[in-house]
Amino acid sequence: MQIGTLALDNRVIIAPMCQYSASDGSPGDWHLIHLGHLALSGAGMLIMEATAVSPEGRISPADLGLYSNANERDIARLLAAIRAHSSIRIGMQLGHAGRKASTRAPWEGGGQVRPSEPGGWQAVAPSPLPHLPQEVPPLALDRQGLAKIRQDFATAARRAGRLGLDGIEVHAAHGYLLHQFLSPLGNQRDDEYGGSLENRMRFPLEVFDVVREAFPSERPVWVRVSATDWVPDGWDIEGTVALSKALEPRGCAAIHVSSGGVSPRQSIPLGPGYQVPYASRVKREVTMPAIAVGLITDPHQAEAIIADGEADAVSLARAILYDPRWPWHAAAALGAQVSAPRQYRRSQPRELKNLFRED
Ligand SMILES: Cc1cc2nc3c(=O)[nH]c(=O)nc-3n(C[C@H](O)[C@H](O)[C@H](O)COP(=O)(O)O)c2cc1C
Repeated sequence: MQIGTLALDNRVIIAPMCQYSASDGSPGDWHLIHLGHLALSGAGMLIMEATAVSPEGRISPADLGLYSNANERDIARLLAAIRAHSSIRIGMQLGHAGRKASTRAPWEGGGQVRPSEPGGWQAVAPSPLPHLPQEVPPLALDRQGLAKIRQDFATAARRAGRLGLDGIEVHAAHGYLLHQFLSPLGNQRDDEYGGSLENRMRFPLEVFDVVREAFPSERPVWVRVSATDWVPDGWDIEGTVALSKALEPRGCAAIHVSSGGVSPRQSIPLGPGYQVPYASRVKREVTMPAIAVGLITDPHQAEAIIADGEADAVSLARAILYDPRWPWHAAAALGAQVSAPRQYRRSQPRELKNLFRED
């Protein structure tokens, strides 16, 4: 399949997954181990975790970032090591946490690190509304603040271009900054960035434009969205369709369709493939590919989503952490072929003589 000009080996995409294991935004050995083994999975693309465009845009102090020369140097080293042993396509998700910044890693209990606490900082957002009532509210962004964030996205996109990344996913999902602008639950501004749907889409579209402009034109930029807030009067699928239609002519190469994250009032009917109908709806409304994600765990389920035309690709997060050879096992179950490193080819099961393909 193609995402813009980028050809993927197959339609399995590894979803971005925060590791809360970086130092001052830079990856370390954990990232080499984690991304290294996922790079041997045979998936069509690996999307690196939410990578902050500024220190204050990190979700936690241990988030990956691409805002300094040191970050760029350390990510270059990481990518060189992975590329020496894998030809997997590698994308990066660029994001800004907005009001969900300055939190603890999940294994430290999550929750806000207050600006007055060690390691904490003051979050910014479209409006001074906290994500949770007990939190210190974010500061509402003024014009200068918005300009800085556009600039930070552009600078990070230029760095990503220099790093040779195959594509950029702009993170506009899960209640982070760009989703906060889209959703009436996070955005109560009364200037041209709030109120009507057109106004709420303005800042996310501006950010998309600067990223598209700063990243080499022959490589794709696409957007991850939350298709619905799962809260009455929140952001919804009609807004998502309008956003997708506005993004397509601006050069967006795909839409990665997730949901939720902007409000603790959300009520999500979890179940296998629970977000797939939203990807299908977007796919019907635009011509760029739609990527489905969310509790896609079984190869036959994944194959049906593609074969029935519900989405153009499937993206996996937890299932591929649980089984990092998921694409091998899917290829085996579906009678397909998958690329595997030459060092591992002797593991090919006796009854599956054509499972592994030489790169
Ligand atoms: C450990 C972990 C970290 C995640 N980090 C991110 C992230 O950085 N960016 C993002 O958009 N989604 C993130 N997600 C959400 C996943 O990309 C995915 O949308 C979600 O887990 C649903 O897919 P699944 O059912 O295959 O896990 C994360 C999920 C997990 C489990």
